Amino acid sequence: MAVGDTYRALHQRSLSDPEAFWAEQAKAIDWTRPWDKVLDASKAPFYRWFAGAELNTCYNALDRHVQRGRAEQPALIYDSPVTNRKKSFTYRELRDQVAKLAGAIAEQGVTKGDRVIIYMPMIPEAVMAMLACARLGAVHSVVFGGFAANELATRIDDCAPKLVLTASCGIEPGRVVKYKPLLDQAIELATHKIPRCIVFQRWQAPASLVKGRDLDWNEAVAAAQPRGCMPVKATDPLYILYTSGTTGQPKGVVRDNGGYAVALAWSMQYLYGVNPGEIWWCASDVGWVVGHSYIAYGPLIHGATTILYEGKPVGTPDAGAFWRVISEHKAVALFTAPTAFRAIKKEDPDGKLLKQYDLSKFRTLFLAGERGDPPTIEWAQKLLGVPIVDHWWQTETGWAICGNFVGLEPMPVKLGSCSVPAPGWNLQVLDEQGKPIAKQGEVGALAAKLPLPPGTFPTLWNADERFRQAYLADYPGYYKTGDAGFIDQDGYVSVMTRVDDVINVAGHRLSTGQIEEVLGSHNDVAECAVIGVADELKGQVPFGFLVLKAGVDRPREETVREVVQLVRDRIGPVAFFKTAIIVPRLPKTRSGKILRGTMQKIADGEPWKMPATIEDPAALDEITGGLKTAGYAGKG
Ligand code: COA
Ligand code: AMP
Repeated sequence: MAVGDTYRALHQRSLSDPEAFWAEQAKAIDWTRPWDKVLDASKAPFYRWFAGAELNTCYNALDRHVQRGRAEQPALIYDSPVTNRKKSFTYRELRDQVAKLAGAIAEQGVTKGDRVIIYMPMIPEAVMAMLACARLGAVHSVVFGGFAANELATRIDDCAPKLVLTASCGIEPGRVVKYKPLLDQAIELATHKIPRCIVFQRWQAPASLVKGRDLDWNEAVAAAQPRGCMPVKATDPLYILYTSGTTGQPKGVVRDNGGYAVALAWSMQYLYGVNPGEIWWCASDVGWVVGHSYIAYGPLIHGATTILYEGKPVGTPDAGAFWRVISEHKAVALFTAPTAFRAIKKEDPDGKLLKQYDLSKFRTLFLAGERGDPPTIEWAQKLLGVPIVDHWWQTETGWAICGNFVGLEPMPVKLGSCSVPAPGWNLQVLDEQGKPIAKQGEVGALAAKLPLPPGTFPTLWNADERFRQAYLADYPGYYKTGDAGFIDQDGYVSVMTRVDDVINVAGHRLSTGQIEEVLGSHNDVAECAVIGVADELKGQVPFGFLVLKAGVDRPREETVREVVQLVRDRIGPVAFFKTAIIVPRLPKTRSGKILRGTMQKIADGEPWKMPATIEDPAALDEITGGLKTAGYAGKG
């Protein structure tokens, strides 16, 4: 057999007989009721996996392991260089604490199907909060700590939660981020009224509690009775996770229970090659999809040990932090974003710090969140001497669209490619008319034939029509990924760029349209545009162009400073919006479309062509001049 044959046979079977394929994989999960239908296509294009089945995701993540010999195995290792704390929880301890927390949540009147917002830093209580909601059949929505109050308020209004679980603060190197005032402000801004908050007090910045609304976490848990697992339908939502849309209104990606559990169990074994009982580390944040799938649910469903790391790749305390964690906890694999490795490479290009640590247990490094740039991958390959696997996925998909399935059959790594499609993914490269491009290696829109495999999103929260319009309408019968790329003669996929206004900043997804909305709300600004410019460390960073209203007569730096602050206040520090320039006008086509693509090429010093439809070519000279002054457009 040739290399890749095992993968190809499996992938082929997942497409030719998806129901048999996924029914087989579903044996890894404990169900309280079997399914009536593996794939319910009766409401296509809204497909449902394991229709009629029931299970509880928390039971699959905790209780069953306690019952079957893993009670004393560490389930979660908390490693926090920013607080100098480490703590390990066995499966039994985690199950017991989650059951009590579920009791405290239920005491507040939360039942199956109710929404709960979780706004927490990287502490074990964040994972417990997710699992406790799952235990009750409640639907959690985790909001990343780097978002501002306004973003939190938007999410509160969209999912109308009964309860918010939070902590008094998060800890960023050199600064304590007080979460509670942000939450109070968000509650004030939101139309939906929050009856109850449970607040985990951290000594670094204890929060004042609002009488009659806020409860102290420890007190609420101490007073609660443990709760058992409530079976839910496989097709019921486990969580909602908001991601950038094209406007200020984020998209509420819905994740179901059954298909997700099956996909995660499969991927832990065959994509990540991790065995139950082994130690796995995903250095993301619980606020992102990667954190949901591979800090919380995936490793626990699989019976592995998950590491929860509250720190950075560099500066906590140095660029050897990742090696220290891998070696100390004997992790067999790490999943992070290329940006983290660029940060390490910048600080310690020769990998001197690695020499202090024993990484003998370490087998594979997985990178995702942005394209794995070849120089970073090559550097990591040389340094670590293990396979470096770039894999591609999205908040919407819940797990990888493409990857190198090292647990099934390692395939050669090709630099710049995220390898081959995951089971159930029938990927095509489409031209502008939506027809598959026959020529291998030609770039087009990456789209997947419906149905998507289990674990992917069945819809957007309360927005079936938006789901259809945003993802299914452009190419009937396909899911539009929003990414462009190509597939080579060996079936390897390369993802090149987004086709919309989404940019990728340090592995975090941001919408330039959303930043533009904030800039446009400033009193001085008549018009604006935001593009993503290349950044050595973060991949891309947002860059703003402002056209001021006639008659605005104040120092330009003041306006720029204010819009930068406005983005931080409205979207949050995660937007990393630091630079804007003032220009006399924006380059547009004759029909009024802003030429963001050309502006980006100019900013990055890439070759560009004068668009035939440009209204006034001089506008591009003005932009180029401004960019050069700001240190961009180097090669012109
Ligand atoms: N709460 C509050 N603020 C937060 C935050 C949180 N949870 N997380 C980040 N921020 C803030 C940061 O402090 C920073 O603020 P600043 O502008 O005042 O410095 C800003 O948001 C941007 O954060 P980030 O993009 O994380 O930049 P950084 O300089 O702190 O760290 C990296 C850079 C590369 C080390 C970091 O982005 C990283 O580790 N990325 C990897 C992500 C990942 O692994 N993803 C998994 C795959 S998707
Ligand atoms: P998010 O939903 O935040 O996970 O962002 C998803 C987007 O990140 C994708 O649509 C891609 O644009 C980008 N992305 C994620 N992983 C990769 C990868 N391995 N290669 C290229 N782009 C990636």
